[in-house]
Amino acid sequence: MKRTPRAYVETYGCQMNISDGELMEGILEARGYEIAERPDDADVILVNTCAIRDHAEKRVLGRVSQLKGLKADNPELILGVTGCMAQRMGDDLLAKAPYVDLVMGPDGYRALPEALEQARGRSRSTGEGAEGGVLGSAPARVAREIPRPRRGPQLTVLDLDTGENYEGLEQRRTSDVSAWVPIQRGCDHRCTYCIVPYVRGPEKNRDPHEVLAEIAGIAAGGVHEVTLLGQTVNSYESGDWSFARLLREVARVPGIRRVRFTSPHPNDLTEELVEVMAAEPAVCEQLHLPAQSGNNRTLKRMLRRYTVETFLEKVELARSAIPDLALSTDIIVAFPGETDAEFRDTLELMRTVRFDDAFTYKYSLREGTPATRLPEGDFIPDDEAQARLEELITVARGIQAEINRSEVGRVEEVLVEKAARDPGSVLGRTRRNKVVAFPGDLSWVGHMHTVELTSTTGATFAGSRVAVAGTGTLVGAAV
Ligand code: SAH
Ligand code: SF4
Ligand code: F3S
Repeated sequence: MKRTPRAYVETYGCQMNISDGELMEGILEARGYEIAERPDDADVILVNTCAIRDHAEKRVLGRVSQLKGLKADNPELILGVTGCMAQRMGDDLLAKAPYVDLVMGPDGYRALPEALEQARGRSRSTGEGAEGGVLGSAPARVAREIPRPRRGPQLTVLDLDTGENYEGLEQRRTSDVSAWVPIQRGCDHRCTYCIVPYVRGPEKNRDPHEVLAEIAGIAAGGVHEVTLLGQTVNSYESGDWSFARLLREVARVPGIRRVRFTSPHPNDLTEELVEVMAAEPAVCEQLHLPAQSGNNRTLKRMLRRYTVETFLEKVELARSAIPDLALSTDIIVAFPGETDAEFRDTLELMRTVRFDDAFTYKYSLREGTPATRLPEGDFIPDDEAQARLEELITVARGIQAEINRSEVGRVEEVLVEKAARDPGSVLGRTRRNKVVAFPGDLSWVGHMHTVELTSTTGATFAGSRVAVAGTGTLVGAAV
């Protein structure tokens, strides 16, 4: 008797990739797979990869090589690599990791079950594709033919498909707390350091009605927080729907209490958008606004299409509409040709804006991106890049700690996410995306509680649940 095939998906990279991991699980579950929580007893392992920096890729290659060890116990195990690194490396990945059976880029996931059947058929040396696959069922109609530039028994699915709209695919959501909702895929920018447009293709926006129906379903299932996802999420446009309009409608879906979105591009932060953010109670007082650099010459060479001055105007626009806004950013140091003085402009920007949080990176060369063509002498030695990164982190953490210390004593609504490290404590986030641990019970996961922030490590908070004066009851025990 055939047993139910089991698939394990391990995801690296950004929220979009995490969301894609859930999508692959959903596609496989709909086709009769059971989703395994561990790789050990899976029949299919998919490593869903990121290509944003070299370091991320190296780590994942190491992990794939480690997972191949499981083939010794289970010769029929299919090991697949999906996501952005799969798209970027393609055949090179097969050459580097000959034990990989399937390489599939982000636009191929609809055809995942068929591709796995083909891979399985061939790994049994039938050479006949789906015949004899464990599922044994006829492949469902697919949106497009799977291209088969084969190499031995390996399969690649790598075409970037502008016709793929990802509609009608079921994402497997297991969180009781929060849901990722992609509203846009790909990117029409060409920031000169960035690989994303080459591995994810041009911008494609989902139908707003499908998005709203999906979110209504999420809320009906008891999840009250959604994060809208896109590479430049606020450039979303569909017919006469702007991002601001979609955000307003999402915020008004019954049962939705918190809405976040990431990552917006500074240029598309419009007055209409900040008005919606300010007016809609469900939209959280939080904004991630990637600056990348605080120097105009560097911004220009990065092709970010804004200046420090216009970036600061956007910050002002958002802060004047939403005074309690928590701001975070992304910064790259040591972009080729960045001088020490230009790096100091970035430190200056940090001190001017005073971000609540900053994600900081050393420039990483990505083959095929425009920045690789900059003069050789422009590339900054690693020790210098590392020193800049460390200095930036020190400044960013110092500012973060000052801000957070000034927030001790605040009373905030916390959505509980999971157990905290200390037994008997839970961890959650405020609307402003600050992490708080406080004494509590795991049954609170997915519920809002009113919490006083009692101390901070600088980065995160400890708190205690508060009673509301006059009522004698604790508020927010359940939503
Ligand atoms: N679409 C988002 C960014 C996605 S990538 C946006 O435009 O804001 C997330 C972050 O990774 C970027 O904001 C950037 O700071 C960083 N990043 C991208 N490419 C990089 C590279 N080649 N080296 C170092 N950091 C990089
Ligand atoms: Fe990359 Fe720029 Fe597109 Fe963001 S906007 S994904 S940094 S090319
Ligand atoms: Fe990485 Fe791809 Fe996201 S390159 S950051 S997983 S879009």
